[in-house]
Parts: sequence; structure tokens; C-alpha cells
Amino acid sequence: MDPHAYSDDDVAALYDVLNPWAPCDDFYLSHVMAAEAVLDVGCGTGTMLHRARAEGHPGRLCGIDPDLPSLRRARTRRDVEWAEGRAVDIARRPEWQGEFDLVIMAGNAFQVFVGDEELRDSLAAVRTALRPGGRFVFGTRNPAARAWERWTPENAAEVVDHHGRELRVEHRVESVVDGVVTLTETTAARDGEPLRVDRGVLRFTAAEEIDRFLAGAGFQVAERYGDRRRGPLTGASGEIVTVAHAVRAA
Ligand SMILES: C[S@@+](CC[C@H](N)C(=O)[O-])C[C@H]1O[C@@H](n2cnc3c(N)ncnc32)[C@H](O)[C@@H]1O
Repeated sequence: MDPHAYSDDDVAALYDVLNPWAPCDDFYLSHVMAAEAVLDVGCGTGTMLHRARAEGHPGRLCGIDPDLPSLRRARTRRDVEWAEGRAVDIARRPEWQGEFDLVIMAGNAFQVFVGDEELRDSLAAVRTALRPGGRFVFGTRNPAARAWERWTPENAAEVVDHHGRELRVEHRVESVVDGVVTLTETTAARDGEPLRVDRGVLRFTAAEEIDRFLAGAGFQVAERYGDRRRGPLTGASGEIVTVAHAVRAA
């Protein structure tokens, strides 16, 4: 496989093709529009904050993400603050401490916190950025719905990328161990010729466990849904969507 066949910047652009704006994304947008100062953790290519500014958000909008190709796309909008880093790095930014009344993690970015320690430290860092009473709003795939069972080559997405190139993007699960799913994403030409393979690790966490981690970081759950249309959480729900309040220091 030619390692230059599909670049990291191409992958970031392809992410936006694969994840176009959907009506349920208005869930996060409505929270953003109602807040004065917002931090988007794992902001990726910046879609949520771009949209908020385009719709007239007048306040402070900041996004943080460790992925530089994604941030390069985010930075095409200069009236939003963008920072390179992981969630844990928030705690090392004195200028962000207690500055925000809303932190969001959209697109199931919460699932990138794989180990207990990483999850604990990341939530504690998110908490430091919030004003007392501030909100942390995020979603994560519901383990009970076992989404990984549908991440198979038969369910590949056929898309046309930003260059007009016809592609096939398919997933294969390598392992599922204690709710941690290791998978590959193959980006291929339509004839099946692979252009690149990326590997990812995602944690699936049940609601009760999420609540324990949140409580440990100084949050109290205020609202809980099974989707971004505010439907109830059931065993069949695809997501666990949480609105948590910062009630004390971590
Ligand atoms: C599935 S994408 C979601 C992107 C964006 N929030 C959205 O809704 O489209 C997950 C993002 O989390 C970022 N990420 C990975 N590890 C992270 C960490 N430790 N802290 C914060 N973000 C992280 C990735 O670079 C990626 O952009």
C-alpha cells in the first residue's frame, strides 16, 4: 500500500464528508447558542463551533483537539479560538480555569478516553474549565446497543470525497475486551484497492459507570437521554446523552 495514497489532511476532509450535519446535531448547537462561553473538547474539524458562529453566537467559542489535520480545517474560521491538545491538557491552561459556562463533547468523542485513569483525569480537567454551576454536555454510544457488531465490511460506506474521488470506507473490529473496542478503518478505492488503514480504540461505558466517574470529578447528572432528540434511555438506545452540572471542585 502506498503510504502517501491518502494523506492525514485527506482523512480529516473525508471525516466531514462522512459526517454531514444532521438534524440531531441541533441538540448540541442549542446548548452552545444558549451559553456565553463554550469549550468544545475533541472539536475535530470544528463543525459545531463554525456553525454556532455562523448562526450569530456573540460570545467566546474555543475548541481543543490533538489532531492537527482536523485543526487545520477548524482554523479556516478565525473568529473562534483553536488549541492543540487533549482533554487532560485543559488543566494546564491557566487562562481557561473557571472560564466557561458550557463544555461539550460531540460526535461521541467521549469514547476516546479508554483507560480509567485517562477518563478520570480528562473529566477532572474538563471540570476545571467550568464556572460553578456550568454544564458538561456529551454523548457516548450505548454499550447495550452493541454498535460494533455492525462495523463490518458489508456495511461499508460508499462516498465521493472532496477531490471527487469515489471511495469505500469500511470497518473491521479486531477485539472487544471489557467494553473496549479495537477497530480498523480502511479507506479504499471503489475497486477495493486499499489506500490506507487507520486503527482506533473506543471505550463503551454504561450509564451507571459514567455517573460514578462524573461524581468523582465533581459533576451531578441533571438530564439523561437515549438520543439527541431527548428520547428516554432504554436498552435499545443508540446513545447515552448526558447533561451534567459542575457542583464542586474535582
Ligand atoms: C469522533 S471525533 C469527534 C469530532 C467532533 N467533536 C465531531 O462532533 O465531529 C473524536 C475527536 O476526539 C479527538 N481526540 C482524541 N483523543 C482526544 C483526547 N484525549 N482529548 C480530546 N480529544 C481527543 C480526535 O482527534 C477527534 O477529533
